[in-house]
Amino acid sequence: MKEKLQKIKEEALAKIQSSDNLDKLNEIRVAYLGKKGELTSVLKGMKNVAPEERPKVGQMVNEARAIIETALEETKKALAAKAREEQLKREVIDVTLPAKKNNVGHRHPNTIALEEVERIFIGMGYEVVEGPEVEYDLYNFEKLNIPANHPAKDEQDTFYINNEIVLRTQTSPVQVRVMEQGKLPIRMIAPGRVFRSDEVDATHSPSFHQIEGLVIDKNITFADLKGTLAEFAKELFGEDTKVKFRPHHFPFTEPSAEVDVTCFKCGGTGCRFCKGSGWIEILGCGMVHPHVLEMSGIDPKEYSGFAFGVGLERIALLKYEIDDMRLLYENDTRFLKQF
Ligand code: DAH
Repeated sequence: MKEKLQKIKEEALAKIQSSDNLDKLNEIRVAYLGKKGELTSVLKGMKNVAPEERPKVGQMVNEARAIIETALEETKKALAAKAREEQLKREVIDVTLPAKKNNVGHRHPNTIALEEVERIFIGMGYEVVEGPEVEYDLYNFEKLNIPANHPAKDEQDTFYINNEIVLRTQTSPVQVRVMEQGKLPIRMIAPGRVFRSDEVDATHSPSFHQIEGLVIDKNITFADLKGTLAEFAKELFGEDTKVKFRPHHFPFTEPSAEVDVTCFKCGGTGCRFCKGSGWIEILGCGMVHPHVLEMSGIDPKEYSGFAFGVGLERIALLKYEIDDMRLLYENDTRFLKQF
């Protein structure tokens, strides 16, 4: 019996020593200490042992069990430590590896151009205001002197929501909204998105942006309009820029003009950029029509003013010499990151 126990013990310890993973260790535990294990079967054979020998054999079995358990426990710890070490080695981080670059975005050319225009007018004491993109026909047309059957309404290929509501075709309705608030004098610009049912091409988009300008005060004359826009053009396109006012017609201004600036590429001698003319058209403007003032509750005998409307994309295209408006909307970062 004693030899048998000794043999079981040695065998178990040898197996434990040579086992190289936790699963194997567990198998050994079951094989020797489990319910159907070797040591248990020795205990079961006790009935064949002489009664006076039984306590001694029992003690021997317990000793063998304790030794095997300790060996199992120690090997388990050693294996776990080894596994952890290998894992750490496997997962080691190479801190000398170059970092992955984060792509930080930047402002869209439209935004850069808008902020430039805002900076110029804020410098002249203007306030920046906003109006709704979904607008009443009343504000987009009627109160700007464009009655129901006016041909200008057809020109502006409007998106109608219903008979009374449209996607604004211009930022000019913000003029009316500000005038109606009744706080005078007014010196404001109103940038924002406008909509027209236009086909997309190099110079058209069904949605684009304008910047409206409005000044109302006593004794405002065309000279103020001219001086203001000449200064604006110089700030935007350079000190040598000159402006030219061409008579035009807008229903809500009288007189009205379109403004050209000397080509900043050739300085006015004519090039491919200005199509040989030396001039580039940038905006529409005029003295606010007395009837428009009246409709918004301002007395045209006491007050006068001027207004202008600039296409934001047009400014961005000119300033950055982009030849196709579609590029501004495609969000191709290879294009956008150049500005
Ligand atoms: N709203 C005009 C358009 O979209 C542009 C414009 C012209 C605005 C003259 C004005 C102005 O304020 O005085 O074509």
